[in-house]
This record gives sequence, structure tokens and C-alpha cells, in this order.
Amino acid sequence: MKLRVVSDQPWDVAADVLAVPFVGEPGFDGIIGELDRRSGGELHAVADFGELKAERYGAAIVAPGQLRAGRLMAVGAGPADELTRQVVIRVGSAIERRLGGRKVKSLAIWLGDLADRIDGGAEAVAELMARGVVEGSFEPAGIYRDDVKSAPPALDELILVAPGAHVAALTRAAERGVIMGEGANLARGLANRAANDVSPEVLAGEARAIAERHGLFIDVIEPARAAELGMGMFLAVGAGSDNPPRMIVLRSGEAGAKDAVGRKLAIVGKGVCFDSGGISIKPADRMEEMKMDKTGACTVIAAIATVARLAPGTPLLAVAPAVENMPGPHSARPGDIVKAMNGKTVDILNTDAEGRLILGDAMCYAEKLGASHIVDIATLTGAVARALGDQMTGAFGAPQAWYDQVAAAGERGAERYWQLPMIEEYRADLDSWYADFTNTGSAEGGLVKSALFLREFVTVPWVHLDIAGTAYFRKKTPYAPVGATGVAHATLVELALSSAKKR
Ligand code: BES
Ligand code: MN
Ligand code: ZN
Repeated sequence: MKLRVVSDQPWDVAADVLAVPFVGEPGFDGIIGELDRRSGGELHAVADFGELKAERYGAAIVAPGQLRAGRLMAVGAGPADELTRQVVIRVGSAIERRLGGRKVKSLAIWLGDLADRIDGGAEAVAELMARGVVEGSFEPAGIYRDDVKSAPPALDELILVAPGAHVAALTRAAERGVIMGEGANLARGLANRAANDVSPEVLAGEARAIAERHGLFIDVIEPARAAELGMGMFLAVGAGSDNPPRMIVLRSGEAGAKDAVGRKLAIVGKGVCFDSGGISIKPADRMEEMKMDKTGACTVIAAIATVARLAPGTPLLAVAPAVENMPGPHSARPGDIVKAMNGKTVDILNTDAEGRLILGDAMCYAEKLGASHIVDIATLTGAVARALGDQMTGAFGAPQAWYDQVAAAGERGAERYWQLPMIEEYRADLDSWYADFTNTGSAEGGLVKSALFLREFVTVPWVHLDIAGTAYFRKKTPYAPVGATGVAHATLVELALSSAKKR
């Protein structure tokens, strides 16, 4: 896809479709009024007809009249006081998805109405809109078949229309947005793939290909070496499957290098290629969703690749423990006692609380490689999905100053997080008669206890992002299909880049 920023007026832009986002009620003054007039009053007419409302992401397509574009699309961005950076991305995605199945090769989007209302102005909107269009083009229905009716169009050209803008600066911003969107789509493409397609070994192979493409160092730890390293929790979870586990380690920058702010950041992602629950087997209902339990791993793999594209050489470590959690003759059993890499013993009361086991060893290993700051990302608990749903990621972290830095990266990445507390009193519920602690307690406060468990395996500033609710959508929206959302990719990239040397 070619990217072009033009400083012309929207009526002078030639494209198959010209999209015009509007804020609030459809109004016909200013540039939108002029577009309406030149379209021969078409916008006014559909608004009167009731097809163009203030509804966010609602879109109407009309004939262009005197405009140079082939079609004119008006799209709602919702109320002015609720316009966020995330809404701008989703407007871009909604435009692209509204064109699903249509013959569109060049798409022009006017940035004006939004640029006046977002911090960072046209430059910020150019980045977010470009990212949104790219994310909107993601179509998982095509992963296992070729002919997808109404797939979002593969654009030859995206034209961002910003009258009077500084074209070079907006072009740079939009290019960054495209790369961000492509990174999120890389994570989504991997996460959506079925468990009979993506085993731990296949995921490691994908990581290897990505590493080669972007000049990243990669190390894939197989079970024998994991045993030497003492990764008893990781191996216990992987033991139940014929597809052996893999600890995937990617690095950008030199080994041991600190970033520009003196950090050695590690991002650690849960890679359960399928979570049947193991011996503590899950109910059949919705078990198919558990192929998405590798989303954290896919996200850290994609994020380090995006960082390598945007700021090559930035010191960053990504660790992705990949396993299949299956019942079988070699599976861990409830009551099994295993030893973690940091020497702590764990009483596995429930084999379905497997994410925390593999993450614990992965975070220990990240520290062994020198990590001074860690962010882990995992589809860890059904509880976070029940509490926050699919729009907001639950997050824990300490010390608060580190949490705040991750949260700030989340703002820049236009993603939503809600901080949850680590309530010390609940730690006692993980006490075990036989081991240092158990992997689950009673269900009450289970979300908090999942974080208290993970905390046992880190000694450096750490944030935990529980994306079990936000990793994938069960229903399509105007801005996204069913399946992986790419959540937290942008946050992790922004966090790593906040320390990148300025070019
Ligand atoms: N992968 C699941 C969590 C999950 C649930 C992700 C729903 C996405 C949607 C995780 O491994 C799990 O099974 N968690 C258990 C923990 C419990 C046994 C303490 C849960 O949340 O029920
Ligand atoms: Mn589980
Ligand atoms: Zn799981």
C-alpha cells in the first residue's frame, strides 16, 4: 500500500472513495458543508432520510456529484467530548471495514474535523488513522480460505487529506502508524491460527522467521535445556502434550545492553497454544476459544519485530514460553509438586491455572538474562474478562512508578488499562502444606491471587497485563472482526521506544 499525504482540499482529491469523519451530529457547515454542496446535497439528503446519524462508526456512502472522488463516505466519530485517540484508530478501521467487498483501490480520508480535537493535531491523527486503516484491513476469515466475501479491500493507495498541513511531518507520522498497524496484524494473524496448525514448535519457527526478517537474535530452548535450567513449572505444563514445549527468546540490540534510560526491558508473553485445562479439564462450552491462549506470546513476538522496524538496535528482550496444556499419561496432576527456576516449590492444585506456571519460569529466565524491568502479558484469568469485559485490560504492577510508565505508554498507544490492587492479605490463601505455595486459592479474589502468584517470580520492577478479556472479540464490531484484536501491541512498542535513541 502506498501512502500519500496531500494538503489539498478534499474536493480536489481524486480517489475511489473519499471518507469524511464527522464529530457529533452530522452538521453541514465548514468543509463538510462545502462537500455536501459539491456532492449536490447528497449528505444532507441521507441525513434527512435517517441513514446518517450521530452514531459512532456509522457510515453512509453517497454519490460524489462534482467531487473528484468516485464515492463519498461520511462516518461518525461520536460525541466531541468522548473523542479519544482510540476512537480515531477505530474510525479508520470502520472506514476500511465499511468498504468490505467493494471495489476500492485508492482511499482518501479527510483528517480535518478530528485534527482540531486531538492533542498532537493533524500529525497525531495521521498516525492513528493510518494505523486504524491497516488494522481494519485485517481479515481472519481468510486465514484458511482464499475466497472471503466482503473482505476489506486491499488498497493500492491510502491518501490522507489535511489541507494546509506540513506534508513531510504527516507522512512520517502516518508511516509510523502503518508499521504499528502491521505489527498488531502480525500478532493477530498468529494468535488466530488453530491449535492443529500452530504447535509450540511451529510458533518457534514463526518467531525464527520473524527474527531473520528483522535482524533479531533468537534462542529456542527445548525441553532438555529447560530441565538443565530448572524450569520445572514450564516443563510440568508442557508434559501432557505430544507437541513438546518451547521457550522462545528474542533479542534486539546487543546482549546485556541497556537502553537510553538505563533499563534492560523484557516483555514476556503467555504462549499456551491450546489450553484444555489439562487434567483439571475445562467444560466443552467455548473450549475452542483456548487456541487464543497464546495471544500474549504472539504479541511480544510481534512487538519486538515492530520495535526493530521503527528503531533498529533498541535493546529489548522478548520471552515467550510456548506449550500445549493437554491431559494425558504424562500430564501434571493436581497435587503434583514442582520446583520453579528460582528454587521455589509449587503445589499444582489446578492444572488449568497453567499460565502463571509457565510465566513464572519465563520471568525468572528474563531476569537471568539481565532484565531490569519486566512487563508480562497473558490471557490469564476468566475473572478479568468477567470484571472488565473486552474493552479494558486489567493490569497490576509494582513499584507504582514503573506501573505509571507502562500506563503512559498505554496512553501513547491509545489503549485502555485499569489498575487492579495486589491485596497482601490474600497471599495467605496460596499457602501450601507441601510446598512454598499453591498455584490457585479459593475463587474469591482469584484475579488478585493470580498476580500475587506471579509476583513470587520477579525481583525487579514488574507489570502484569491480563488480556483474557481483551485479546479477542466474540462478536464483530464496525471496526473489528471476530478474533484476535492485537491488544497491547502498541503499548509494548511505545514502552520500548520511549527509551530508544532518537534518530
Ligand atoms: N486461559 C485461561 C483463562 C481464560 C479464560 C482466557 C477465558 C480467556 C478466556 C487460564 O489458563 C485459566 O484457565 N484460568 C483459570 C484459572 C483458575 C483455574 C484459577 C480461570 O480463569 O478459570
Ligand atoms: Mn487454563
Ligand atoms: Zn490458559
